[in-house]
This record gives sequence, structure tokens and C-alpha cells, in this order.
Amino acid sequence: MIIELAESYGFCFGVKRAIKIAEENSNSATYGPLIHNANEIARLKNDFNVALSENIDTFKAGQTAVIRTHGIPKQELSLLNERQVNVVDATCPYVTKPQQICEEMSAQGYDIIIFGDEAHPEIKGVKSYAVGNVFVVNSANEVADLHTREKVAVVAQTTRKIEEYQEIVAHLMGTHKEVRVFNTICNATFDNQDAVRKLAQKADVMIVIGGKNSSNTKQLQTISLNYCPDSYHIESRDDLEPEWFSGKKLCGISAGASTPDWIINEVIDKIKQLSSL
Ligand code: F3S
Repeated sequence: MIIELAESYGFCFGVKRAIKIAEENSNSATYGPLIHNANEIARLKNDFNVALSENIDTFKAGQTAVIRTHGIPKQELSLLNERQVNVVDATCPYVTKPQQICEEMSAQGYDIIIFGDEAHPEIKGVKSYAVGNVFVVNSANEVADLHTREKVAVVAQTTRKIEEYQEIVAHLMGTHKEVRVFNTICNATFDNQDAVRKLAQKADVMIVIGGKNSSNTKQLQTISLNYCPDSYHIESRDDLEPEWFSGKKLCGISAGASTPDWIINEVIDKIKQLSSL
């Protein structure tokens, strides 16, 4: 069986940057998970003594708090600064951008519409920067129920699909006098998505590696399934099942934006073992 990696997979620029920042700040703690990958978080703890704290009150003056790629709400950032915690910001610049847009556009009198998942940390953070009215929608259907003013500015969660965003924008154009649209969807997501689409079309079995909570990995899996019914979303080599590879000629591999190369390499080694049984 041939194993082929997607042309683009795995860590994106923002995650690589955040890990480098965490590694440079050993003996610190991240506030919330730095990235959506439990194995990588464990590696940072073991090799660099970078702990994880979900509780803001555990950070005391003089200690270092590394802010995760998805960012945190503005009020929490202010609280850490007030308490004289040494804040090291590893928020992805592609997440900082919609935060700034929300702040600036709402200050200019626009109602803000965010296309994304209200429960996602990135969206909680982005939303907190709006100084006026702010609405979060998860699909075009929800737009009709919004009671906004005539001027709206709209941003999207970095990992959302452009087609759905376009649908939302089209809806808003039909109902509002002024719509300011910012394309805040991240290109790293597109690159990995395009590559998985291409590979899944010719593969007999697809393995998509990434955290079960990682929304960009889930999207890769959804795209992969559209073209290759034997597509499996796994977190590590331990999730592989030998029968997935029986009689298969081409195994395609992709990985979400938070999946490190060492996990991908372990998976590839295990697939080689299983397919030679
Ligand atoms: Fe940033 Fe895009 Fe990665 S938003 S964290 S570069 S997927």
C-alpha cells in the first residue's frame, strides 16, 4: 500500500508561532489550552515546564501567562494586566485581526455580526472587543431573526467555510443599507482543505489526524468523507484499526492545523506496520 501525504497539512503559521513562544517561555503557564491538541500540550509541560491553567485566579503578579492562539476576552486580558501578571500574547495574528475590526467598527457606530460558534473561545474573545451591539450567527438561517441597525460590519471565525460566509453576506446585503464585509477566514485552513479534497479523490482510505475538539480537523474530515467514504478522524496511532487498510492501494494522510509532525510520523509508522501484516 502506498501512503501519500496531502500537499498541505498540519501545523499552520499561527500554531507554529504559538508553540515557539511557549517554548521560549519555559516555567510559565498558558491560560486555557494553547492549541487544540492534548498531546502537544503534554509535550510542552514535560519538555519546557509550560503548564496549563483554566482558572484566571491562579495567575499571580510576576508570573507569566501565555495567551493561547484563539485569544481570550478583552476583560480577562485587562484583569491579568491589572494583576501585574507578565502577559505573553501568542494569539494568532489572524485572530487578533477580527478582534481589532470589532473594536474599531463598533466604535464607528456599526452593529457587529460575527459568523461563528458562540461557544468557541475564538468567538468569545472576538465578541468581547465590540463596544456596541454584537450578534453571533452560526448559519444564514439565523440572519433573518436579527434586529440590527442599518449599518453592519461582519467578520467570520477563521475556520469557517467561505461559501457559507458568502451566503450570510448575500442575506445581509438584501436587508441592510450598509454592509462592511471583512474576510477574516484563514488561508491556512483553505490550503489544508484544498489539499485534502485533491487527495481524497484518488485515495482508497483517508486518515485525518487531529484533536477531536479541533473544528478545522473536523472540517477536513467532512470534506474527505465527501470523496472517500473510508475516511477516519483519529487523534493518534492508538486509534488506528488494522481492517481499515485491508485490500487498500492508496492511503492518504491529512492533519488538522494543530497536529504536530511527530504525531503524524508516529501514525505513518503504525500504518506501515499494519498494512504489512
Ligand atoms: Fe491562525 Fe489560521 Fe492557524 S487563524 S492559528 S494561522 S488556522
